[in-house]
Amino acid sequence: MTLTVPLSVYAQRRAHLAAQLGDGGIAIVPTAPERMRNRDSDYAYRHDSYFHYLTGFTEPNAWLVLTADGRSTLWCQPKDMEREIWDGYRLGPEAAVAALGVDEAYSVAELDQRLPRLLENRACVWYPFATHSGLAARVEGWLAPVRARVRYGALCPARQADLCLLLDEMRLVKDAHELALMRHAAQISARAHVRAMQHCAQALRAGQEVREYHLEAELLHEFRRYGAQAPAYNSIVAAGANACVLHYRADRAPVGSNDLVLIDAGCEYDGYASDITRTFPAGGRFSGAQRALYELVLTSQEAAVAATKAGARFNAPHDATVAVLAQGLLDLGLLDKNQHGSAQDVIERRAYFRFYMHRTGHWLGMDVHDCGSYVEPGEIGAVQERKDPLSGETIKDRPSRILRPGMVLTIEPGLYVRAAADVPEAFHGLGIRIEDDAVVHAHGCELITRGVPVQADEIEALMRG
Ligand code: GLY
Ligand code: MN
Ligand code: MN
Repeated sequence: MTLTVPLSVYAQRRAHLAAQLGDGGIAIVPTAPERMRNRDSDYAYRHDSYFHYLTGFTEPNAWLVLTADGRSTLWCQPKDMEREIWDGYRLGPEAAVAALGVDEAYSVAELDQRLPRLLENRACVWYPFATHSGLAARVEGWLAPVRARVRYGALCPARQADLCLLLDEMRLVKDAHELALMRHAAQISARAHVRAMQHCAQALRAGQEVREYHLEAELLHEFRRYGAQAPAYNSIVAAGANACVLHYRADRAPVGSNDLVLIDAGCEYDGYASDITRTFPAGGRFSGAQRALYELVLTSQEAAVAATKAGARFNAPHDATVAVLAQGLLDLGLLDKNQHGSAQDVIERRAYFRFYMHRTGHWLGMDVHDCGSYVEPGEIGAVQERKDPLSGETIKDRPSRILRPGMVLTIEPGLYVRAAADVPEAFHGLGIRIEDDAVVHAHGCELITRGVPVQADEIEALMRG
């Protein structure tokens, strides 16, 4: 399996999508806009994931139109010597047909002129709803000239439908090419975590100052060194109590030898994300309390991993995690046995929520929080209502997704202990999360991120090396 995705794979995806558009269906897929950061500086360009899934094309200002008969038309930036001197190479429509395997290609400057003709006499226009600002208005604009021609016998599409519904389902199960890219991204990210851990211990042993951004620099070095285009999301590098801030960014806090450091970082490689969290002792040795809490999170992750296999529900790893954490919080004295009784009480009253306030995973793919419904489509109407014991709100539980081979999800339990009078002091300010990326297989799951160790002893050994 090479990492280059053959053109035939994109053609197959387009054909599969076209077959679902229904008689007279037409789909419109824009790529992402370019975005300015400030004044003349723009953000690094990132294509739209749906568009890339169907074309493999990474230039901005491009559109794909697909019709139910399987024909695909691409609109892209025209060749322009002056713009190419400033901004770089453009494929151009003349070369696009052969380079991308589409049936036709035109300059994006012709989009407004050609699209109304393509929409004429179609039954349904599909496009991604609520994802591209202004797109619905743009479609309305293209339909107006079609409407004007109704008196001459033209048919104006009677329906509009959300293309995300079809593409999300397709993207939820990864094919072999996607899995190869995801394994590659995961391996690079694992190396980056190893490098940051080793740098941290070595620098502290040498008496050097270590700040959170120094560790972020080690991550970025490794991402780029192995050809990843960018971090898949903003890296979290949190020293000490900063780890209790769930969306903390790598900032400037000094890293002390006795701190735990939580790093949540993963690269994007050829459009696919990885997402790893490790928590390690900055100086290379866990204290007793740090190790006790770490082992609890790790045991809960092992329970979640065991619950991740085809046929199980998406919620099964979360429920397995919570069962272990609930008992562990009582055993370690973080929750008072006299007040809470059993682990079952802790779960029913959601008393663990104070220390574990996020879910155990999410889909992973082209987007770090990848698309795809968490509810099993055939059971969407099966609602069970319950009152949340903490907020009192009514929650509508729908049966969660049944896992299938090729789905990819993260498994990321954690515990975050803020200083409080009713919590043993040894645990104050400890924030621990352990996150791996799992490919669902028939009888279990494959953790593609274990290039970075997770056992406490192995982490200590790595940091001594
Ligand atoms: N890094 C984002 C997440 O773990 O969900
Ligand atoms: Mn995650
Ligand atoms: Mn993460």
